[in-house]
Amino acid sequence: MNQGPARIEINEVGPRDGLQIEKAMVATDDKVAFVDALSECGFARIEVTSFTSPKAIPALADAQEVMRRIRRKPGVVYTALVPNIRGLERALECGTDEMNLVMSSSETHNRANLRMTREQSLAELTAVLRAAGEAGAPCNVSLSTVFGCPFDGDVSPDEVMRLAHSLVDAGAVGITLCDTTGMAYPTQVAELCERAARELPGAALTVHLHNTRGMALANAVAAWQTGIVRFDAAAGGLGGCPYAPGASGNVNTEELVHMFACMGVDTGVALPPLMDVVRGLPRLVERELANPLIAAGPRLATHEPPAWLAERFSPG
Ligand code: COA
Ligand code: ZN
Repeated sequence: MNQGPARIEINEVGPRDGLQIEKAMVATDDKVAFVDALSECGFARIEVTSFTSPKAIPALADAQEVMRRIRRKPGVVYTALVPNIRGLERALECGTDEMNLVMSSSETHNRANLRMTREQSLAELTAVLRAAGEAGAPCNVSLSTVFGCPFDGDVSPDEVMRLAHSLVDAGAVGITLCDTTGMAYPTQVAELCERAARELPGAALTVHLHNTRGMALANAVAAWQTGIVRFDAAAGGLGGCPYAPGASGNVNTEELVHMFACMGVDTGVALPPLMDVVRGLPRLVERELANPLIAAGPRLATHEPPAWLAERFSPG
């Protein structure tokens, strides 16, 4: 098997991608406590919230208060989603470390999610990149639907690369390749990651996967094998875009961390405190979460053998 990097970084996006789609209104105090607990787990970045229109994403209308109140752990980069200049202004006011700008690579999803054409988004984000540059705030851009769009179907990799080049030329320090509704498959992921790394050698590449069709972990391995070192993931497999039909959760952070730990890859994330956070999620989002890893325990959480074995196999 082709080996990927020995060390990777995980960006925990549960507080943003996770909570943006939940029906339960999570209290501001609980959001702050969620982020603070995640800060103790070893993540490189935590996407705390989004500075989107409160009409578009009512669940995160308290973005500024959350960003102001979290306890900043040295070494952790606290990021937030920003769709426009208004969002940048709000994010800067409360000291967001890094901006995660967003647009889609497919036309219909961009219109549904951001109420703009892609060319309007490109112009808006170019202005955001300029203003953020003047303010000294680094910006990553998340390109949605790069592996397929729930409205338009397949998305041309040439089109993805055209947008990525424009955004990097305009000042983005990184590009996130987002599989918004779990349409990606491993060979496709490998091809696009290889192409993006080849064509954008100066940009930090991140992969953002959803497990809508059960392929997220396989896709993560495929990306890792091409040399990708940055992965978005959501604790408990929360997540989904409210403006993408059929959207469901991100790749589970705990499953991703556990898998890479088994493979000897250092993610920086400690599984026990993360599992504690995940156990608290059903209370936070007021619904049960199916979680095979919590149910089974980590791979080497072995069990006592049945008591009768000792008698059956006792010497003499
Ligand atoms: N923060 C807060 N309010 C904002 C805002 C922002 N970033 N951007 C716009 N608004 C407000 C405007 O002030 C205006 O308020 P008003 O009605 O009280 O006057 C209202 O929202 C509409 O503004 P407009 O510029 O016409 O925006 P829009 O309705 O065309 O929506 C976006 C554009 C991008 C703001 C909106 O579609 C959005 O936030 N989308 C994010 C979707 C998302 O996060 N999806 C999941 C992640 S992929
Ligand atoms: Zn997502």
